[in-house]
Amino acid sequence: MVALTIDGRKVEAGAGSTVLDAALAAGIEIPRLCHHPELTAWGGCRLCLVEVEGQQAPVPSCGLAAAAGMVVITHSEQLEAHRREVLDLLLSDHPLNCVICEKAGACDLQRYAYEFGLSESSHEKEIARKLYQDENAFLVRDHQYCILCTRCVRVCEEIVGASAIEVAQRGFEAFVATPFDAPLVETPCTFCGNCVQVCPTAALVPVDRIGKGREWDLTRTRTVCPYCGTGCGIEVATRGGEIVSVSGYGAPANGEFLCTKGRFGLGFVGHPDRLRRPLIRRDLAYSLGLIDTPPPAALGRSPLGRSPAAGETHVEVDWEIALDLVADRLAAVVKESGPDAFAGIGSALCTNEDNYIFQKLVRGVIGTNNVDLCARV
Ligand code: SF4
Ligand code: SF4
Ligand code: SF4
Ligand code: FES
Repeated sequence: MVALTIDGRKVEAGAGSTVLDAALAAGIEIPRLCHHPELTAWGGCRLCLVEVEGQQAPVPSCGLAAAAGMVVITHSEQLEAHRREVLDLLLSDHPLNCVICEKAGACDLQRYAYEFGLSESSHEKEIARKLYQDENAFLVRDHQYCILCTRCVRVCEEIVGASAIEVAQRGFEAFVATPFDAPLVETPCTFCGNCVQVCPTAALVPVDRIGKGREWDLTRTRTVCPYCGTGCGIEVATRGGEIVSVSGYGAPANGEFLCTKGRFGLGFVGHPDRLRRPLIRRDLAYSLGLIDTPPPAALGRSPLGRSPAAGETHVEVDWEIALDLVADRLAAVVKESGPDAFAGIGSALCTNEDNYIFQKLVRGVIGTNNVDLCARV
């Protein structure tokens, strides 16, 4: 631990802490835009400048190692003027469409503009970057809202390891580009959406979230991703019972980060084709006397590529009939060929408890160790 003084208060900082870390841990707020706690410091936005005794000019606190005996000032007239000018310049090429913006209410730029009382820039207004949506189903890239904080670039390189994006050009022309400015689908992008997660503005927004409601209309529920055994914590934003978006929230297993399935793959929850009742094959249902009409003779994949709909090949039954049928069939297989003729594949979409009961059924009732699932739990 090192002891330093911030705004006249004695604070202690852990080994490797920055001055920003030490201040935040002590409850001292410092404005910041390019900083993200899970990413390496970049020091580009200059909003987190602080004054340090003995230093001639203000220093970005997000990249400044806390040292014993350091005396730091986080708020002064000069620092407020610096920060105001930083924001003023950012707003000079920003659309400020907050009244219709998907990010309003969760936007760091909007929050600081509000705190500094800036409704417009005092500089000549010119939007340097233009809308750019490449063809993908997951995220909108709208450069006009980008403040070049590089959080997306760093998360893609440091956390995801894909390095699909980088800042191209210089100065007013600079923008977050893909290699050769190709569409994301032609890059190593995995569409994990972690760049969307860390983007402080509306420059990166999930496609499915567009037009689904303002931030304050959404209900946020924390749960566990249903896809694999990692057990990532997810926060599901819903409106009127419909899933609008999914994000990470800092859970122990995954921090804020998710893979593409967890972030963009929960559409099955409200999908009209989702199976909600047991279905059995029509020929079986007919032979059991559950339906009056026999199925058409040649059901199966059509040579034209059209697969028959579930309603053509299967018929809905109640749970009792379905479970009795499955139990009878399983008992017959085990009786005829022994328990090792059976193998059970569980699902990571089920809870651990469901999968535990499932393996008990396979081992204890059927009598075989042929049981597995993709999550390997
Ligand atoms: S990104 Fe933020 S500041 Fe920009 S229009 Fe949207 S809410 Fe407003
Ligand atoms: S979606 Fe993931 S892989 Fe693609 S650019 Fe964003 S962080 Fe990188
Ligand atoms: S797209 Fe978002 S995260 Fe990336 S540099 Fe622009 S504002 Fe920052
Ligand atoms: S948050 Fe420190 S320079 Fe941007």
